[in-house]
Amino acid sequence: MKNKIHALLAEVEEIKVETKEQLEEFRLKWLAKKGLVTALFDDFKNLANEDRKEVGKTLNDLKNKAQEKFNRFKEKFEGGEETASSDMDLTKPAEPIAFGSRHPISVVRNQITDIFSRIGFTVKEDREIEDDWHNFSALNLPADHPARDMQDTFFVAPPPPEGGSKEAYSPDFPPSGGLRGVVLRTHTSSVQIRVMENSQPPIRSIFPGRVYRKENISARAHCFFHQVEGLYVDENVSFADLKQTLLYFSQEMFGEKTKIRMRPSYFPFTEPSMEVDISCFICGSKGCPICKGSGWVEILGCGMVNPKVLENCKIDSKKHTGFAFGMGIERIAMLKYQINDIRLFYENDVRFLSQFKSA
Ligand code: DAH
Repeated sequence: MKNKIHALLAEVEEIKVETKEQLEEFRLKWLAKKGLVTALFDDFKNLANEDRKEVGKTLNDLKNKAQEKFNRFKEKFEGGEETASSDMDLTKPAEPIAFGSRHPISVVRNQITDIFSRIGFTVKEDREIEDDWHNFSALNLPADHPARDMQDTFFVAPPPPEGGSKEAYSPDFPPSGGLRGVVLRTHTSSVQIRVMENSQPPIRSIFPGRVYRKENISARAHCFFHQVEGLYVDENVSFADLKQTLLYFSQEMFGEKTKIRMRPSYFPFTEPSMEVDISCFICGSKGCPICKGSGWVEILGCGMVNPKVLENCKIDSKKHTGFAFGMGIERIAMLKYQINDIRLFYENDVRFLSQFKSA
């Protein structure tokens, strides 16, 4: 019996266990109730006393070896041993998690709203699907007005044939009389009207948001982009207030040496109207490709709120005056970070977006 057990000891050693199934076979053969080791212990009982000591020891060795081998492989298949014994260095610091970053449009939008909040402007947002009244007519762009062509419009529902009275459109959305004159707003100036209809002066707010225009997509233009509209209406708001507000904004945004200049322009909702240029902060106004050699770059449109617009919103234009301005967030971002293609903002290329991590 001793020799038999010795042979079995060698056999246990040799047996290959490579799968869970083989381990189960091993257990059944050696360790189960009807297995070899139990059978040997049964035989052991019949041994003569003098043989028991030596055989007993070898038999115990066999039992322990088989059990040990079983335990080792069990642990391995359950993942324990593999992790502990593999090359993994558990003291190594973990790979850093790559954090996302704010989109450059959000970064610049927040910079703009921060600057204006410091001088008392509140921030309001409103709808992107707008009716003709708020996007056009109330802003002194009645139907057939040539200035409507300044902005190519996406229509959700065609304009009403009657033209530009408020009643012809939809004071509520969706209107009960059928859907007429509904557009994707072409500018955030529509929010001016919403705010003036719902509150009396003093009003000092900015309105950031997305706008839509039927434009061919190129490096310079897109069919949607973002604007920030500003509105200040009160008693005695003057052109000097407008100029000083925009100078403050430009210097906070582009650096304290920045100068502004105003050029006469035309917008139906402001009278007089201006376009504002800032001195080119890239070349220090010496002339470069960004300012096309002129030393100045255009950043926004503005003016004194047209009294007709105040009256359209039931604000007494004898008592109140106001200024308004509107700027493109993409334009400001492109200038500030010298981005030469507007499409980059919408392609979600991480190599582009991650450059604004610290902005
Ligand atoms: N709404 C104009 C646009 O989208 C921008 C603008 C110009 C807004 C002059 C204003 C303004 O409030 O006074 O081109």
